[in-house]
Amino acid sequence: MNIQSTGKLNGFSEITSGAIKEAAEKFGTPLYLYDEKFIKDRCRLLLSMPSAYALTVRYAMKANSNRTFLKIIHSCGLKIDASSLNEAKRANLAGIPYEDIILTTQEVPEGVQMASLKEMIKGGLKYNACSLRQLYNIGDFAAENKIKLAVRIHPGIGAGESASRNTGDDYSCFGIHRSDFEKALNYANEKGIIFGHVHVHIGSGGSAAVWKANIDLELSILEKYFRGAETVSFGGGLKEARMPYENAADITELGLYAKAQTEAFYQRTGRKLKTEIEPGTFIAANAGYAVTKVIDKKQTGANGLNFVITDGGMEINARPLMYGSVHPFYAVSNGGGLLFSQFGENEGVNYSAAVIGRCCESGDSQCLDENGVNVARKIAEPEISDYIVIGGAGAYCSAMAPMNYNSHLQAPEILFTEDKTFKVIRKRQTFDQLLENEV
Ligand SMILES: Cc1ncc(COP(=O)(O)O)c(C=O)c1O
Repeated sequence: MNIQSTGKLNGFSEITSGAIKEAAEKFGTPLYLYDEKFIKDRCRLLLSMPSAYALTVRYAMKANSNRTFLKIIHSCGLKIDASSLNEAKRANLAGIPYEDIILTTQEVPEGVQMASLKEMIKGGLKYNACSLRQLYNIGDFAAENKIKLAVRIHPGIGAGESASRNTGDDYSCFGIHRSDFEKALNYANEKGIIFGHVHVHIGSGGSAAVWKANIDLELSILEKYFRGAETVSFGGGLKEARMPYENAADITELGLYAKAQTEAFYQRTGRKLKTEIEPGTFIAANAGYAVTKVIDKKQTGANGLNFVITDGGMEINARPLMYGSVHPFYAVSNGGGLLFSQFGENEGVNYSAAVIGRCCESGDSQCLDENGVNVARKIAEPEISDYIVIGGAGAYCSAMAPMNYNSHLQAPEILFTEDKTFKVIRKRQTFDQLLENEV
């Protein structure tokens, strides 16, 4: 497709450069813009993943917890993976019943929080014990109420876009490690607790090969240790291609692999396991765009770089700073023309610059190498008040933003609906809100 002539940012979204200009003028910058159709298409694709006996797809709401996001995804038939009590509460407030939510958390609730957790569990929430202490704390309640628990196991293998996104290797502490299985199982036997659901999440953005290796390992663990389990969750971590040179997870291929392995498991054990996956990135990342405005330009001499300074940086997308992540760029003129698309031909573009934010922080950049040093990227030269749009910004951008650094206000979230209108799904924070809890 000749992207420049259609004005579409890329080949997978209906959002055009004209729509970017309209949103920016209507709501101000910076803002997040989400593509409803893309979210729904991703949900449909995931629900079509091949599986042996039954497949549940849960949305890992940590990726983007906005209520409207949750409602859209739940209405498509997905359930929810929450990673804190507050996330579970937010999902419930979005109209999602507790029976559609699993809680997989590092929290160890006590007092009022524990009482609240028990209420949620009574309401149907599936509790995933992620440590021995969590298990011991909920054990009596689960036994008394005959509630089956889930257990997150630590597989000892992991994969991630960066080392800090790998949650399965032994340098990472998520789940009950296999060296503690005996303790967990002895305790469960003593109390009469059944682990009906075994769960693993090996990390985010890693390779398909490790994802497959985890399926084998997890099934062998279920066979040996968790004989009462009816459900196996392979977690999230399905790779998304944010940049044109990346390859997204092949849902059919991974599904067929999981299907074959769970069928082989049935042949060996007579157990027909229900399967679950819980992607966040794969659903949300490419649905989102962070729209910023160019406020300044600088350069650092013959051996230096060009810099394009925008009104939204690390406080709207901290992923480059946190993980060295690379996001696609789009440049849109103030009049709404598409100047540059990461997915376009871009003939004649011979300008390159580091796109940075306005925080007093040298790491406030969308263009960092693995050492945290600014590097220039090819992009059409924008003028002051043109727009730089950061793609792949639907997951872990708004949700993980170090908002209010330098007292910048939390950016609004806008939905580009299926009928191509804009809907504010979170307003811009006000200056009064920034101050309101100070005493
Ligand atoms: C337990 C769990 N499940 C699912 C996910 C979602 O991962 P991703 O966004 O890579 O699909 C995460 C991410 O951290 C997680 O911790």
